[in-house]
Amino acid sequence: MRRGRSRLGAALALFAAALAGRIGSAQAPELAENVFRNIQVLKGIPADEFMDTMGMFASSLLFDCTGCHVQEILSDRSAFAIATPRIQRARQMVVMVNTINKTYFAGQPRVTCFTCHRGDGAPEAIPDLAVQYGDVSYENSSAIRIFPDARLSPDTIFARYLQALGGAERVRALASVVATGTYAGFNTGSAKVPIEIYARAPNQRTQVVKTFEGDAIFTYDGKNAWAAEGWRQLPLMTFTGSNLAAARVDAVVAFPGGIQQAYRQWQAMATTIDDRNVQLLQGSSPGELPVNFYFDEETGLLVRTLRWSRTPVGTIPTQVEYGEYREVAGSGVRMPFRLLVRWTNGQNAIELSDIRPNVAIEAARFARPAPFKGR
Ligand code: HEC
Ligand code: HEC
Repeated sequence: MRRGRSRLGAALALFAAALAGRIGSAQAPELAENVFRNIQVLKGIPADEFMDTMGMFASSLLFDCTGCHVQEILSDRSAFAIATPRIQRARQMVVMVNTINKTYFAGQPRVTCFTCHRGDGAPEAIPDLAVQYGDVSYENSSAIRIFPDARLSPDTIFARYLQALGGAERVRALASVVATGTYAGFNTGSAKVPIEIYARAPNQRTQVVKTFEGDAIFTYDGKNAWAAEGWRQLPLMTFTGSNLAAARVDAVVAFPGGIQQAYRQWQAMATTIDDRNVQLLQGSSPGELPVNFYFDEETGLLVRTLRWSRTPVGTIPTQVEYGEYREVAGSGVRMPFRLLVRWTNGQNAIELSDIRPNVAIEAARFARPAPFKGR
């Protein structure tokens, strides 16, 4: 079923990707049309961005993957290539969205699947009088745009945070962390399986989840990010572009003393999460999407991060919640023992039982993992 492709075609595709600034120094990313079988509209983007596009679809329509794909995908991965009426419809919608943005919004991704669908396969067309006259107010907690308040000082919020963790000096003395605990996610059917996390300052992080089918590895080496995880569409997924910048956030957060330096510019605003007052700091660097850090106003601790990845049909969010801060023996620093990760393709919960500071970690832990192999 794999569609034939000439050498010239492949060279042109690589050239197009290079023009779009997508080619890293070491290795060209695999383009969706070269690794999947039946790609007709989402061409010229790396495989990781293609899968994020599926997340955009699922999240915007509140469909799971079988909402558009045939049931056989649950047991046979090649069945994703089988067209269904909804897949054909979605292809038309991609073309429609791109035409609207190109024609009426100067090519900016102003209209996305979510703009109309908002979690509904059949977008509503009639205005709702209850929305107009009722007191329901809807605020998108994943939106990028913020309304900065110049009275809030990022320096003060960071200083309070480091103080709450145990003091800037102790926090900056952290050179590495090894943590163990459990992971439960969409890919384990919510069953708890062991997880190991290895992190080295300032920004290397590897996570190994011991799933029933094998070790699922995610690595950020300070520059590159890879996933060798059984549930993904490729045995080794290389992250690119805005996805790579997003993968860096978890590594940066592991060493709180360096968060402020990790972004060029900061803006602050006051907001709430579940009725709790928080201070939101949005960090940004030129050429990258921003990243949000939320600090509990009462405790000063980091309770959430929010970052985004671009797809050809709009931008999708990834959110991590941090809870259960406890002191890590031997460091005098408090760290979150509970993490809840949510993004458009699924969610998972990490509960750590043991965190060890400043232990030696061999460099190979942060090297590119071998492609996933089932047990
Ligand atoms: C709204 C409909 C829709 C939903 C929901 C959806 N997909 Fe897709 N999927 C598509 C379309 C459309 C294509 C073909 C894209 C193209 O032709 O460029 C596709 C193609 C694919 C392919 C490539 C198959 C091949 O070999 O050609 C994979 C893999 C895939 N989807 C995975 C997923 C996963 C995983 C999910 C759930 C997170 C998902 N999709 C949810 C519409 C959908
Ligand atoms: C300009 C508004 C708009 C945008 C943007 C939009 N859609 Fe739609 N979509 C609609 C409307 C209207 C329908 C028809 C609903 C109905 O039949 O009641 C629809 C229907 C669909 C259906 C068929 C649903 C079903 O129940 O069979 C799919 C699949 C779909 N859209 C996917 C997408 C995807 C994927 C995107 C983003 C690439 C997108 N749409 C963007 C307005 C939009």
